Amino acid sequence: MTAITTIIESPIALVCIDNPPVNAAGHDVRDGLVAALAELAGNDAVQVIALYAAGRTFVAGADIREFGQPPKPPMLPEVCDLLEESVKPVVCVLHGTTLGGGLELALGCHVRVGITGLKVGLPEVNLGLLPGAGGTQRLPRLVEGGTALTMITSGKPISAEAALEAGLLDALVDMKPEEAARMAAAQVLEGTLVPRVTADQPNRLGADDLDTFRAKSKGEVTERALQAAEASFLPIAEGMAAERALFLAALESDAHKGMKHAFFAERAVAHIPEAGAETRDLTSAGIVGGGTMGSGIATALLLAGLPVTLVETAAERVAFARDTITENLKGAVKRGKLSVDAFEATLGALICTTDIGALAEVDLVIEAVFESIDVKHQIFTQLDQICKAGAILATNTSYLDVNDIAACTTRPADVIGLHFFSPAHVMRLLEVVVGKDTAPEVVATSFKLAKRLRKVAVRAEVCDGFIGNRILSHYRRSTEYMQLDGAPFEQIDTALEAFGFAMGPFAVSDLAGLDISWATRKRQAATRPAAERYVDIADRICEQGWFGRKTGKGFYIYDAGTRRVNSEVATFAEAERASKGITARRFSDEEIVERYMAAMVVEAARVVEEKIALRPIDVDAVFLFGYGFPRHWGGPLQYADITGLATLVARIETYAQEDAHYWQVPGLLHELVSSGRRFADLNKG
Ligand code: 3HC
Repeated sequence: MTAITTIIESPIALVCIDNPPVNAAGHDVRDGLVAALAELAGNDAVQVIALYAAGRTFVAGADIREFGQPPKPPMLPEVCDLLEESVKPVVCVLHGTTLGGGLELALGCHVRVGITGLKVGLPEVNLGLLPGAGGTQRLPRLVEGGTALTMITSGKPISAEAALEAGLLDALVDMKPEEAARMAAAQVLEGTLVPRVTADQPNRLGADDLDTFRAKSKGEVTERALQAAEASFLPIAEGMAAERALFLAALESDAHKGMKHAFFAERAVAHIPEAGAETRDLTSAGIVGGGTMGSGIATALLLAGLPVTLVETAAERVAFARDTITENLKGAVKRGKLSVDAFEATLGALICTTDIGALAEVDLVIEAVFESIDVKHQIFTQLDQICKAGAILATNTSYLDVNDIAACTTRPADVIGLHFFSPAHVMRLLEVVVGKDTAPEVVATSFKLAKRLRKVAVRAEVCDGFIGNRILSHYRRSTEYMQLDGAPFEQIDTALEAFGFAMGPFAVSDLAGLDISWATRKRQAATRPAAERYVDIADRICEQGWFGRKTGKGFYIYDAGTRRVNSEVATFAEAERASKGITARRFSDEEIVERYMAAMVVEAARVVEEKIALRPIDVDAVFLFGYGFPRHWGGPLQYADITGLATLVARIETYAQEDAHYWQVPGLLHELVSSGRRFADLNKG
């Protein structure tokens, strides 16, 4: 199949781009367009060229899979220039998600017509890049400077209506792209649509615009994009050259490699062994447990248009759940996720009750009660008796054994773990925990549900804590060890925030509630290996009744919206060091990050080795979408590849000299180093 087809309807030539799934401007598209333009230039029967695309969208950007490969001319800037230089006017019809290189092609054309529902933008910064085919040069010549810089630096698309108002579109119509192409070309011939050469338009960017954006922006990615935009003050050819040089530099950056990995991670996780299985219809859902988590899950389901029946044990708990969900939905209205008009109907699809029998006819039940295996056994035994045949019975447990829970039903094939992350209506990650008897169609249906909820589902096998919490519970200890050995906790938080985490681990603990991890530590005390170092600074804090944010005091003190270090934590640390005969030493910020990341990679490698995760990229997705991992690093195992596995092994072996129990090199890491492979090699196939 050829990516470009041309139909001559003299005096109009219709040029169609057809490169599924998103018409990315890969080599075939670029080559085909150059050939079509050359042919049409010499065809006297053609006066106007109309460019449009087949399928769900006009070009959604350059082909990201080509980045990092040897360049294959013609390159995109050249194609955009050829469109602009065409003596015969070129109209372009945009539909779907016209993004990046797709918009840049359109900017090279002489007339742009949008189809209703279009979203148009320059998302390159989300890949650690900048528009590299004239976007930073031509856009400010079509729209007002602030609008251009917002699009270039935020990466967020704008609506068709906004694009029309800004002058990016010449017209907005509601018809099929091919018909719109025919109509727009005819209007150019009639003179009702007037072609313009974008490069000839005055630049609407002002030096003030750049100053404003520089003042509020941060990071190398945005700075590079602003430098490219600044080059639009130069004559267009020089500006284009400057933009291209910055784009090529960005292609080499670690930030781009990490963010490209994150882009593909979000999509790769959908490739699961059960992908081809039949799915079950989900038209209604039930929730058992209306705490913060259960209410959050209910909110997510309601926002996706599913009616929800929520079961709690007492009237006041029912009232709490209803109030929480109502507030969540109001928040969704404020954030533009739910229209004001749809609010009442969405809330109207919620039933809250104390009668578990109300779940008899729902297609899916998600249990979200507190983490007690006895309580879960009791609930699943009841659900087994009540729910209709074919209903999916899911548990939101964050670490308990899904097989054990399934075993107390007569239908373990219908039981699955659906592990949401709090706040469940906001966080994008959903760990889908597959039990030994879970039916493939139950897995496939869960992935379909995740898509409907706009979540990133990652397949996990059963183990304590699954992918995310298992790895977390390991690397979190590295911060306690560093604290005990002399690093102030606030230095650890600051160093990791500088690395890119939104919050340091101690600030996160305060937010989650210190009592929760205290309870876990108490429960684990009996089985804790004798060789394991135990740090009891957090226990001392909890003994004071300081459980973090909810009590106003934890590692930090929270007062009237401000946060300051709780100086008594240092006293507890000193006392513990004294009792263990430890002399405090200094840690550099770099060492803190290196130890933290090494600990994360160690457990992540074990999770891959034990096949708890399907591939390394699945682990990366869990951390990117559930644990605030910095996107520019692409995930812990992409970080490992970038850092170098041999370097990591050497670091772990050095740390092992002081604690050989905690710091052990996983077999997989040794194996990869000795075979000269990287984690990325395990993502293939
Ligand atoms: N290049 C290569 N593959 C792409 C792609 C692209 N630009 N955009 C999407 N794909 C692939 C996806 O990887 C996925 O592949 P898979 O099925 O094998 O996993 C498939 O197309 C479908 O994509 P989605 O699952 O994301 O489909 P959606 O319908 O949910 O979303 C979309 C469509 C909004 C277009 C979304 O895919 C997207 O945001 N794409 C990236 C857009 C982008 O970043 N463009 C800029 C590229 S950089 C550039 O243009 C540089 C230029 O300035 C020189």
